[in-house]
Amino acid sequence: MDVDRTRVLLIEDDEDDFVLVRDMLSEVTFSRYELEWVRTFDAALETILQCRHDVCLLDYLLGDRNGLDLLQEAIARGCRFPIIFLTGYGNYEIDLKAMKSGAADYLVKGQLTGPILERSIRYAVERKQAEEELTKYRQHLEKLVEERTRQHVEARADAERRAAEAEEGRRILHALMDYVPTGIAIADASDLTIRAVSNYALELQTRLYDHPGDANDLKDPAQWILYGPDGRTRLNTEELPLVRATRDGTVIIDEELIMGHPGGEQIPTMCNAGPILDNKGNITGGISTWRDISVLKAAQDVLRKANDELERRVEERTEELVQALESLNRSKGQLRFLSAQLLKAQEEERRRIARELHDSIGSALSAIKFSLANTMEQMRKGKTDPETFVTLMNMTQNAIDESRRLMTDLRPSILDDLGIVVTVRWFCRQCRQVYTAVDIEELIDIEEEDVPEPLKIVIFRILQEALNNMAKYSRASQATVCLEKTHERIQLTIEDNGIGFDPDSMISKDESTRGLGLTSMKERAELSGGRFQITSAPSRGTTVSVTWPLARI
Ligand SMILES: Nc1ncnc2c1ncn2[C@@H]1O[C@H](COP(=O)(O)OP(=O)(O)OP(=O)(O)O)[C@@H](O)[C@H]1O
Ligand SMILES: [Mg+2]
Repeated sequence: MDVDRTRVLLIEDDEDDFVLVRDMLSEVTFSRYELEWVRTFDAALETILQCRHDVCLLDYLLGDRNGLDLLQEAIARGCRFPIIFLTGYGNYEIDLKAMKSGAADYLVKGQLTGPILERSIRYAVERKQAEEELTKYRQHLEKLVEERTRQHVEARADAERRAAEAEEGRRILHALMDYVPTGIAIADASDLTIRAVSNYALELQTRLYDHPGDANDLKDPAQWILYGPDGRTRLNTEELPLVRATRDGTVIIDEELIMGHPGGEQIPTMCNAGPILDNKGNITGGISTWRDISVLKAAQDVLRKANDELERRVEERTEELVQALESLNRSKGQLRFLSAQLLKAQEEERRRIARELHDSIGSALSAIKFSLANTMEQMRKGKTDPETFVTLMNMTQNAIDESRRLMTDLRPSILDDLGIVVTVRWFCRQCRQVYTAVDIEELIDIEEEDVPEPLKIVIFRILQEALNNMAKYSRASQATVCLEKTHERIQLTIEDNGIGFDPDSMISKDESTRGLGLTSMKERAELSGGRFQITSAPSRGTTVSVTWPLARI
């Protein structure tokens, strides 16, 4: 409101009354008024709704309409300034109605004076202003209440959402604790007590303690029995992964620890742990997980053993190979030695044959030639003695016998003519005649056609050498020669009950002083597909045995 001037709207159909009011207001010296006069209901309503005034003086009678209707309609349509009701006469009923309809005051024209009008206008305007401020304040309060209500509703919705999230989190946690096949424990940072443990943790506890595991068993980490990977060093409480994670925020990944029991049972486990933080990064708790790795450990053990076994076998094989190589080198050496010996033996044999030829057949033929020359001389002289021819024939016969003996030595023709069975019998008979101190027995259980042709000379040479050795070294009283066919094998055995010897010491003997017989028997046997074996020990006799599987010959 303009402090100097109060804008007054007068709604009055009587001009006299307008003049009266105007005069009264102009009489007021300490306030100035700007009066606007409107006569009719419609013009009044239109002017009121323009809200240009500070106060309105409304006459009760307005032609055929009355001021009460106007008052009600103006207020209904948002009139904000105070309306003072004027009537020509005092009427309590109208006064009440006007008040109830929102009039600021009720003045009777007949009793109206300048000061009364001035005071009524002032009070009405002041009251209206107070009301407006009150309204504003109430609106402000309502706004505040609305805001608070909205905040409250939002806070409540937020709290409900958080509660729902927390509930969902709890359900997920329970599902994890129930179904995940992992030992899980969650500790509180304030006192390190365990707030939750998983079913799997209780199952492991049941296995270890042999009675149903209980969450209370695990409540206090200080009671947990855990060992380091060696299974002997027990961890103290400060060293437990869960305690380290909860106290210091340490993150532990895949640490191998062993769950233990006072009775000694143990379960190897793989542990992980980490801290639980709030949104400011403060540690509020810790979580630890562990899994039974017995199966993994067992598999690792099996693998390690298999690996060790493999390495051992490789070492063995390497050793065998080294030995085989050494043996090969030895064999090479032996072969060289044998070849040399063979050449030497060949030369000696030739020398022996030459000597034999020279000493026996050579000298016999020389004697025959000498006798023939003698006889010819005698015949020329006419002195022929028939006895001379008898002597000559005997000498010739001796030469023939001698040559036969030499031939048999070289290769017995009996072998080609009559076969191995007869030859073995013949040779045994020969030996019996020569070595009369030994009782030589032959056991032959084989058909001639069972012996492959190339094997016959091999059998004969081995028999020859074995019986020669027997005669030379064994001092035996009994010897047995056995040639038989059993289970698709040909078996030759020459056994004596003599003094025996140590075959190993023979093998290790210096090659230059070693005989050839045993080696040559072995070589002959193996070259013809057989297996040679000599069994002997001092005072236990000697057995030479050769086996030829028929299929391999
Ligand atoms: N039946 C046996 N009883 C006892 N000792 C034997 C017998 N056979 C072989 N030996 C021993 O084995 C050694 C080796 O025999 P081996 O036939 O190889 O050589 P050798 O007979 O000495 O010579 P070589 O056969 O070359 O003429 C013999 O010197 C002998 O000491
Ligand atoms: Mg010999």
